[in-house]
Amino acid sequence: MYMELLGFFIIAVSAVYIYYKYVLFNFWRKKGVFYVEPIVPAGNLTAYVTGRKSLGELYLDAYIKYKNHRAFGMYSFFKPNLVITDLDLIRTVLTKEFPSFHDRGFFCNEKTDPLSGHLFSLPGKKWRNLRFKLGPTFTPAKIKQMFTILKEFGRELTRCIDNKSQETDCIEMKDIFSRYSADVIMSTAFGIEANCIKDPNSEFRRWGKRVFEENSFWVALFIFMPQFMNFFSIPITDRGVTRFFTKIFRENVNYRQTSNVVRHDFMNLLIQLMEKGYVEPDDEKDTNKDTVNVTPTMNRITMSEATAQSYIFYLAGFETSSTTATYCVYELAQHQHLQDKVRSEIDKVLEKHGELTYDAVNEMTYLHKVVNETLRKYPSVPVLNRICTKDINIPTTNIHVPKGTLISIPVFGVHRDPSIYPDPDKFDPERFNADEIATRHPCAHLPFGEGPRNCIGARFGYLQVKVGLVSLLSKFKFKLHPRTAIPLSYDERPFLLIPKGGVYFNIEPR
Ligand code: HEM
Repeated sequence: MYMELLGFFIIAVSAVYIYYKYVLFNFWRKKGVFYVEPIVPAGNLTAYVTGRKSLGELYLDAYIKYKNHRAFGMYSFFKPNLVITDLDLIRTVLTKEFPSFHDRGFFCNEKTDPLSGHLFSLPGKKWRNLRFKLGPTFTPAKIKQMFTILKEFGRELTRCIDNKSQETDCIEMKDIFSRYSADVIMSTAFGIEANCIKDPNSEFRRWGKRVFEENSFWVALFIFMPQFMNFFSIPITDRGVTRFFTKIFRENVNYRQTSNVVRHDFMNLLIQLMEKGYVEPDDEKDTNKDTVNVTPTMNRITMSEATAQSYIFYLAGFETSSTTATYCVYELAQHQHLQDKVRSEIDKVLEKHGELTYDAVNEMTYLHKVVNETLRKYPSVPVLNRICTKDINIPTTNIHVPKGTLISIPVFGVHRDPSIYPDPDKFDPERFNADEIATRHPCAHLPFGEGPRNCIGARFGYLQVKVGLVSLLSKFKFKLHPRTAIPLSYDERPFLLIPKGGVYFNIEPR
C-alpha cells in the first residue's frame, strides 16, 4: 500500500513537472520572445518566494542582465510575465496603449474581502468610475486644507526626537518615521488620533504593521495568482485587520454625521462621495461640471466602498512615505555638505514666511530635488504591474501580447541604470535640475508610476515626506550611527523596497 501511494505520488509530481516544463513554460519560446529560464513550480520567482531576494532586487537583476532585449519573458509561477525595459515601450504600456493595460491584475474580491475593493486593485470600469470620483480629493487646494494636520504631526515628531536625543545617541528612524506616517494617515483617512508617535505600542500601529508582515509566498499569490485566492475564497486581508479598520471608519463617519463635525481631511471627502456622489469643488473657478452634474444616487459610493478607499490611502501612503523619509536622512547623514545645503534653504524659506506653511514647503526647490533623488535611488514601489486587458501587437516590436499576460516594469532597474543615470549609486540631487531632467526620457523617473493609473496621492506623499524632513532638519543634525549598514540591504518579504533591520542615527540639536 505504502509503495503504491509513493508510486502514485511520483507519477503525479512527474506529470505536473512535465506539464509545466513542456506546456506552460513553452509560451515565450513559441512566440519567439527571449525569456529567462524558469524553474518549476515558481517560474522566475523562486528567489523571492523562498525569501532569498526582495522582489525589487529580483527584477533589478533581470533588468541589468537582459535590458538590451527591450522586453523579455519571465514566468510568475506558471503565468507568462512580460518585463519591459525600454523607456519608449514603458511609455507605450503606461500611457499610449493604456486601454490594453488598464488593470494591475492583483487580487480584488469585494465579496470575500471587502477591503480589497479599493482603487489600487479594482479592475475595468469600476476602477475608472472610482478614479474619476476620487480625482477631486487630491487637488492642491484640498491637500492644502490638510496642511495644518500635517504640521501638527511634524511638531509632534520634533518633540519625540528632542526627547529621544537627550536619552540616547543611537536613534532608529525607520520606526519613528513610520509612526509619524501612521499618525498622519490615520488622522486624515480615518479621522483618528492614533498617537503612534507618542506611544510606539499603539494598537493602530500594531494593526498597520500586521499588513506588511505577510510572507513572500502570500504576497506573490496576491500579486501574480489572484485566481487561486478567488477559487478557494481566501481573503488577502487578515480578518482582524478588516474588523479593525471597518469598525473605526464606520464609527467615525457616524460620529461626524450625527454631530455635524466637519474636518478638512480625506474622510470628509469620502463622506461627501457617500452623501452626494461627488466632492465639492475647491472654489467657484474650480467647479468641474463633469463632477457636479451627476445623478447623485447613481454615483454615491457605499460605506463599504468608502472604507476600502480609506484603507488603501492608509496602505499606500504609510510605508511608502516613511521609507522615503528614512532613505533621505540616511543619504543626508552620509553627505553632510548636502544636509547643510538643504538646511540652509529650509532656514531661508522659513525666515521669509515666518513659519512652516504649505507655500513655504513648495518654495523649497532644493528639498524637492533631494526627495526626487531619494525616490530615484530607492523607489519604494520598485516594480510597476499591469495586466494585458486587450490583445495587442506592441508597436515597434514583433511581440503579440494576449489578454491576461502579466506586465512588469522594473522601476528599480531603470533608476539604477548607468546609461540613464551615470554613476547610479551616487546620491546627487543635481540630477533633478530642470536642464538635466530635460535631457532624460519622461519615463526615466517613475517613483509614482505614470499614465492614467499613476499614484493618485503623489502630491500628498511628497508633502508628508517634506513636512517630516523640514520639521527635523530645521532643528537637528543627523549623523549615521555605526550600527547602520552601508549599503543598506532590503527586506525580502514585502512588495515595497523597505530597509532590512533598523536605520540608526546619532541626532544632535543644531
Ligand atoms: C512617497 C509616497 C508615495 C509613493 C512613492 C507612491 C507610489 C505609488 C506608485 C508607484 C503607485 C503605482 C502607480 C502605477 O502603477 O503607475 C501608486 C499608486 C497609488 N497610490 Fe501612491 N505613493 C505614495 C503615496 C501615496 C499616498 C499618500 C496615497 C494616498 C493618500 C497614495 C495612494 C495611491 C493609490 C490610491 C494608488 C492606486 C492608483 C490607481 O490605481 O488608480 N499614494 N503609488
